Amino acid sequence: MRGIVLAGGTGSRLRPATSAACKQLLPVYDKPMVYYPISVLMLAGIREILLISTPEDLPSFRRLLGDGTHLGLRLEYAVQDAPRGLADAFRIGADFVADENVALVLGDNLFHGSGFSDVLARCVRDLDGAVLVGYEVDDPRGYGVAEIDDRGRLLSLEEKPQNPRSRLAVTGLYFYDPLVVEIARCLRPSARGELEITDVNRTYLEAGRASLVALGRGYAWLDTGTHESLLEASQFVQTLERRQGVRIACLEEIALRQGLIGAEECLELGLRLTGSEYGGYVVGVARSFLDEGPTVLEAV
Ligand code: G1P
Repeated sequence: MRGIVLAGGTGSRLRPATSAACKQLLPVYDKPMVYYPISVLMLAGIREILLISTPEDLPSFRRLLGDGTHLGLRLEYAVQDAPRGLADAFRIGADFVADENVALVLGDNLFHGSGFSDVLARCVRDLDGAVLVGYEVDDPRGYGVAEIDDRGRLLSLEEKPQNPRSRLAVTGLYFYDPLVVEIARCLRPSARGELEITDVNRTYLEAGRASLVALGRGYAWLDTGTHESLLEASQFVQTLERRQGVRIACLEEIALRQGLIGAEECLELGLRLTGSEYGGYVVGVARSFLDEGPTVLEAV
């Protein structure tokens, strides 16, 4: 399976913070926002990733992440020159997807919870058409909203409904078979002028080939599109990290625990970040690997 991170958009709700800087590169506590969705793809076992962003911001992502080899990944980049909607990712990424299954994750979505890697593994393994990830929220009106029956089967999908049929929001993490490229190509822009991912998902639903995995109350799904939600996400990460002494979405640690890089390489990556607590953490993880070998802590 391949992965796409969509990190486009203008970040208008975060201006002036985003007037000269890209939203998905703003920090969520101790690391750039884009680390969180990349960590999700890595935890799903994905090694080939296409990052899509604006022509202005793409060079910054490249500077941050390079070609990914230092993390045992293959990273490619592509430009979205206008915000044409989420489904545009599959038009832009058609050659990259080729005939592989593909996961799409939005560059501003943050997921966390114990056992999340197992959930991801199930999404990847059971994929037949489309798998969406759902999460109950207090007010779902700003999201895609899913309706399911009592056996968890998907009944309907609506984009930002005024009167939602449930509280189950469709998160910004999606798994598809390669048909998604054709489906995206056939889409027409919605009333807001975008190629809607919900229209892609409805196409799969109408063909009886869409399912939804709901994350329970032990999980966090946060987005980071406003000043409040960005601050809340930072505080959430800070609280967990300081209390437990582990870091969420530390890409170097995940690469190490997944055997994509060795402990020596991980140490080297940590030393390059000397001066930051994040770098010190990477060094610490690498040293404990060198001393004791892998520990059983889940790499999130
Ligand atoms: C998009 C999707 C929506 C989904 C949300 C998740 O909304 O259109 O279905 O629930 O991402 O973050 P947008 O960011 O375009 O408002």
